[in-house]
This record gives sequence, C-alpha cells and structure tokens, in this order.
Amino acid sequence: MFVVAVVATAGFAVAAIGLFINAYRMSVANAAAPLDAESVQAYETAQAKLLDGTGPADDRALGGEPGRNERANKLGATRTSISDAMAQVTQAVQKGEWTPVRLNQAQVEILDRLDMGGVTPEAILAAVQTPTELTAGQATFTANCAACHGANGNGLVGPNLTDKYWIHGQGPTEVYKVISKGVAAKGMPPWTHLGEEKMKQVAAYVLSIKGKNLEGKAPQGVDENGNPPPSTNDG
Ligand code: HEC
Repeated sequence: MFVVAVVATAGFAVAAIGLFINAYRMSVANAAAPLDAESVQAYETAQAKLLDGTGPADDRALGGEPGRNERANKLGATRTSISDAMAQVTQAVQKGEWTPVRLNQAQVEILDRLDMGGVTPEAILAAVQTPTELTAGQATFTANCAACHGANGNGLVGPNLTDKYWIHGQGPTEVYKVISKGVAAKGMPPWTHLGEEKMKQVAAYVLSIKGKNLEGKAPQGVDENGNPPPSTNDG
C-alpha cells in the first residue's frame, strides 16, 4: 500500500516537473544574458548536494529556506525525476536560455512542487471550479478551521480569509503550503494528517471565499500589489 503510494507520487512528480519545465522553457525562449561560468558551477554543486542528500538544510544557493532541502531529500523515491528536471535546467543555462533570476524562480518552483507532494496548483484551481470538491472542503473547514478562522472564514484568532489581504500569499501554492505546514510561531497548526486530498479541498474552499469581504477580523498582510490595508498600524 505504502509502496504503491510512493511509486504513484514519484510518477506524478515526474509528470508535474516535466510539464513545468517544458512550459517554463517555452516562456523564456527570449531570455537575456546567460549565467557566467562561475554561477553555473555554483549552481551545479548545489544541485549535486541536493541530489545526494549532503546539502545543508538551509541552502540559499538553491533559493532555499530552512528545512527545505531536508524535506526534498526525504522524497528519495523522486530523486531520479528531480535529477532529470535539473539536468534539463542546467542544459538550458549552458545554452544561455535562462537568466539567473529566472533560474532562481525555477528552482523555487521545483522545490515548491516537491513540498506539495502529489498536489499541483492546477489541481487546486480545478477544485475551486468543482462544486463537490468545494462542499467537501467546506466540511473540512467547519470541522477543523472555523474555531480559529470563523464559521464563514471571516476571522477570529486566525486571520479573516475573505478579504483581499494575505500574510503568506494568496496563490494556490502559498495557501496550500500554509495549510500543510502551519505557522508554528503564530499558532496556525499544520494539517498534514488530513491527507493531501482534504488539504487540497480545503485550500480550494479558502480560495473560493477569497474576495467575499465578510465583516470580521480586521485585514492583515498585504494585497496582491504588496500594499497593506489603509488604516492599520500593525507591522
Ligand atoms: C488554532 C487556531 C487555528 C486553526 C485551528 C486554524 N488556523 Fe489557520 N491560521 C491561524 C493563525 C493564528 C494564522 C495566522 C498566521 C500568521 O500570522 O502568520 C493562520 C493563518 C492561516 C492562513 C494564511 C492566511 C494569510 O493571510 O496568509 C490560511 C490560508 C489558513 N490559516 C487556513 C487554515 C485552514 C484551512 C485551517 C483548517 C484546516 C486552519 N487555518 C486552522 C490559526 C488557526
């Protein structure tokens, strides 16, 4: 059972990363200056460490954050697929198809995908459009989240999820990651024990109530342009 799940996850990761790489390469066909040899070398060293599991847990060279490489390394079953994807990236870098900034974004996105296991941003967005998924997500929300985020998501201890301001970002990836990992320092628990399906559904439900602007807890965070709410003085 577990082995089947691991193999299925690995297969999914291969497909997801492959799709992503192709889409990404097409979108940067006209990229500007290539990386210099030293940067390519640093990048390759960092990626080799990631693949053999000796990279530091906090590897800035890979656009990393604390613990991220550790988590990627635990997904040993997907290492071949990561290796393939990164080989493609390296080739593109050497041909001068990718700029350093885009390379860094690509790294972050690949690692985001790993963090998300078998759930893709596309799957979450598809669930937002699927009434049965939203109904299931709402049930999960009522059972687990309403105590802190309010019955309608309008906020109590936890932030109001219906306004346009977000502390951790408003995209499907950001919302899913906050739900799966939690924010230990601020009292938002991690929800991995719900399983990927339920986390996907509840993330979709959260995205579906975004913008309803229900009266409740005062807005926190920033809007999609990075601007804070008009009249707050919290940092
Ligand atoms: C024990 C209280 C508590 C529970 C239960 C809880 N949350 Fe939270 N949640 C918080 C707090 C507090 C924050 C704010 C974290 C911060 O300030 O960084 C938060 C933040 C969030 C955010 C990010 C909001 C933003 O502005 O970026 C999302 C999304 C979220 N929670 C979803 C959920 C979901 C879905 C559930 C149920 C599966 C849930 N939460 C259950 C307390 C809770």
